[in-house]
Amino acid sequence: MKFTINGKEQTVQVEGNPMLLEVFREQLELTGTKYGCGESVCGACKVMVNGSAVPSCITPAVSVQGKQVVTVEGLERDGALHPVQQVFLEVDPFQCGYCASGMLVTAVAFLDKNPSPSREEIVDAMNGNICRCCTYPAIIEAIYQASRKMA
Ligand code: FES
Ligand code: FES
Repeated sequence: MKFTINGKEQTVQVEGNPMLLEVFREQLELTGTKYGCGESVCGACKVMVNGSAVPSCITPAVSVQGKQVVTVEGLERDGALHPVQQVFLEVDPFQCGYCASGMLVTAVAFLDKNPSPSREEIVDAMNGNICRCCTYPAIIEAIYQASRKMA
């Protein structure tokens, strides 16, 4: 199968019907995307497919044939950290950080579509991302700050 991953064309040979997350982690050494629940509940595995955040644990790899996929490794823009990454780095809203890559990808996909959201809209957008350390208030605030910085 062929697709674009983090701006580069990629050809991968797949056997059976692996999920995208398996292909990233086991064939492409893109281990920033995490396995959490494996059931599309926690959001730890989210990546962008054609600009929308999707759970890669339940997304068949072959379904992204010909599409643009971005993982947490590909969020940089023009060689610099994405503003959301930069604010997360400065504010450090996480504890263990296991949810961070899914949060980042979901936040970036959301802000691309809604660059100036309210806090309530951010809460709604992040609804599918679970943080087991419960650092939600700091994460929401960091995304809000990033949106204002980008504006
Ligand atoms: S690991 Fe995919 S949503 Fe939890
Ligand atoms: S900081 Fe630990 S799961 Fe979110």
